[in-house]
This record gives sequence, structure tokens and C-alpha cells, in this order.
Amino acid sequence: MPTASERSLAVFPAGSLGEYDLPPELVVVLSRGQGATVWDSDGRAFTDFTMGWGSALLGHAHPAVLDAVVRRAALGSNFAYVTEPALELGEEIVRAVACAERVRFCASGTEATSYAVRLARAFTGRPKILKFEGAYHGANEIGTVSLFPSQLLDFPRGEPTSAGIPTGIVEDILVAPYNDLAAASAIVSAHRAELAGIIVEPLHRCTAPLPGFLDGLRRLATEAGALLIFDETVTGFRLAYGGAQAYYGTVPDLCTLGKALGGGYPIGAVAGRADVLDLVREDRLGDPRYVWFASSVGGNPVSAAASLATLGELRRARVYPRLFAMGESLRSGLRRVLRDAGVPAHVQGDGPLAAVLFTDREVVDYRSAFGSDRAMKRSFLLGLFRRGIFLNPMSTKLYLSTAHTEADIERLLTATTETLREIRG
Ligand SMILES: Cc1ncc(COP(=O)(O)O)c(C=O)c1O
Repeated sequence: MPTASERSLAVFPAGSLGEYDLPPELVVVLSRGQGATVWDSDGRAFTDFTMGWGSALLGHAHPAVLDAVVRRAALGSNFAYVTEPALELGEEIVRAVACAERVRFCASGTEATSYAVRLARAFTGRPKILKFEGAYHGANEIGTVSLFPSQLLDFPRGEPTSAGIPTGIVEDILVAPYNDLAAASAIVSAHRAELAGIIVEPLHRCTAPLPGFLDGLRRLATEAGALLIFDETVTGFRLAYGGAQAYYGTVPDLCTLGKALGGGYPIGAVAGRADVLDLVREDRLGDPRYVWFASSVGGNPVSAAASLATLGELRRARVYPRLFAMGESLRSGLRRVLRDAGVPAHVQGDGPLAAVLFTDREVVDYRSAFGSDRAMKRSFLLGLFRRGIFLNPMSTKLYLSTAHTEADIERLLTATTETLREIRG
């Protein structure tokens, strides 16, 4: 009888659903999750530091989310039309998120950023979007041009990280170094007449914006008549209830939401200015600025109910202070064990997010991180995986949830110490 891992390797490319690949000997099939723990089909427990790529901010199978989903699913799971939970959720997003005058749902962060970019192009009648090198905005073109570039071309030329992207599309994506306002300003000036928007992850991967950077982008976009888009797929409801725009105090024209918003269920949203979002109204069909934006399952009532339950929990007192204290404990613990092991590394992140970069350089953007030791990173992450830490071996981005405890962090730190000892022989 083939094992579950062998069956997975036979049917899925690299035995994976696409989030990341493990070496064949480490491929597992998960059977369940509870809180911050997941179990594979052999019953082996892992402490989870990916949390469904950050979608399960309350932990797996949170009772409030589970209850909301079960009750709602019994009433019908999808109508491709407004339901009470979707309506309540839209209203809550407008209350919570500073830029949100209108909301439209889709089913993922990738869809949300695709639509946000399309809206910016339609609204301005211009083709080009400025993004920052190394930023991920989903599996679409805007997310994968210059995601992991290796040629380090002169800015603003982009390098596709995925095949299958036509040259014309690459040329309409301008690429700038994150945290370098002067460079972004020069690119905006040179392309002002063609620039539809600037899209940025406000906390770029786990690299924090330098003081004034986001406000500077706000100014550049306004002066150029372009839209500022915050990709808040990761930061939304995570860095603060109102997302990065509340946390950093810069308000974009549009933002995208996903991941934590769904409490582990599929959802995405574009929220922002009414005059931009209203381009999707069907009565504008035929208008040159009309934007097609539709999804069979976007905003379905089960995801919306999961989301409302999640947001209800996140509004409780002390949730964010605790998430931030745990994040600080994780980052400072990692710094300590890396220093004790004599391994040059930077630990980045904010709130319930952390990432380790094996470099002794200060990291402010993709190129300052580029020289980091990626072979070391992979050995490190696989070493943690072997020791029962569930994470993405492609990236050191660690996601905490409200279900994590100091004991989970201790487990990670012990596994880190053992792994570094093993790697260094
Ligand atoms: C900043 C950012 N934007 C967009 C996405 C895409 O979201 P999804 O995987 O839901 O399509 C991701 C996913 O990791 C992300 O990190």
C-alpha cells in the first residue's frame, strides 16, 4: 500500500498544493489542526508557524469560527449574491479600514491585487504600475515580476520570476527599491504621464518602512495623479485591527485584504474610494472606464461568517498587545539563539510576524537582503521542519496566531539551537 506521502507525490507536482515544496522524504499529508498544532496522517504533531500562510490568525479550528461556519453552512453555502453575513462584513470593513468607502469581495489575495491594479489602470486611463523589488502581491503578474530577481537589472526594469508573462506586461510594471523614496520619485517623474498606481506591501515582506517612506509614496502618487494601493493581504487586521494604514498612519486610495480576514476560509477584498470602486457597477458596462470584477464564490456567506466571527474575536481587549508581545518574544528569542550560536543573521518583522535573514548587512530592501546565505536558510528551515516545526522551507516568514503560547516559542527556539548546532557541525 502506498503511503499518503507517496500518493501525494504521485498526484500533485512535487507532492504539494503549490505553496511550497518539501524534499520528497519530508513530504507529509496533514490530517488536522487545532490551535497552533497540526497533525499529519501518521499522527505526528508539528507546532505550526505558517498558520495557513497567515490565514488562521486565531489558530486552527477556533471554536467561535467553527460555530459560525457550521451554523451558516446549514443555511446554504453560496448564492453569488449579497447575504446578511457579507453585508455585515462589508459594513465592518468600512468601519475598520480608513480608506474603505466601498468594498468588493473576491476569493483570494491574488484576485484582490489583480483587481486593484485593474481599477487603478481603468480609473487613470494609464497603463503602468510601480511596485517594489521583492514584493509579493500574489501569483499574478504584479506579484511575480521581480519577486525573486537574480539579474538585478537597472531600475525600473522588471525581471519575471515566472515564465509565461508576456514582455509587454513586464514593461508595464515599473520596479523600484523599497524604502528608497528618491529612487521611487525619479521613476514616478520619468513615467508620470503613464503611471496608474503605486502598489506596496506597507510592511514589505518583513522589512519595516523607514520613517516617511509611506507618506512619501502617498505624496508621489497624489502629485502624479496616480492611485496608491496598499496590499494589506498580510497586514490587514494583523498589524492592527485597521491594518497597516492604521498602524503607520498613511491612508491609501485602495487596499487589498485577504488571509486573516477569512479566519482560515477563502476570502479576498478590495476596499477603497467610492469613485474608484464604483467603476465596477454593471450599469457602467460600455463606459470606457468600466471594470469587470466578478467572482462566483467571492464574499460567500460561509467565508463571511468565518470572517465576522474572527473579527469579533480580534476586537476583544488585549488581543493585539498580546500578539505583539509574543512577536517580540519570538524575535528577541531568535536573535539570542542566533547570537549564542555565532551565526550572523538579522531577525526582522513586526507584530505577530518574524523572518530570519542570514546576513550581517543591514536589510532595508531586496538588494540588501540579496547577499544573504540562502543555502543556510534552506538547511535551517528543513532542520526545523525535521524537529516538528511546521513552516515554509522557501521563506523564513513565521506567522504567529492568538493560539500560540510562550511554550510554542520555546519549542521553536530549542529546535533552532539544535538545528544551528547540527549545521555548524
Ligand atoms: C502581500 C501578499 N499579497 C497577496 C498575496 C496573495 O494572497 P493569496 O495567496 O490569498 O492569493 C500574498 C500571499 O502570500 C501576500 O503575502
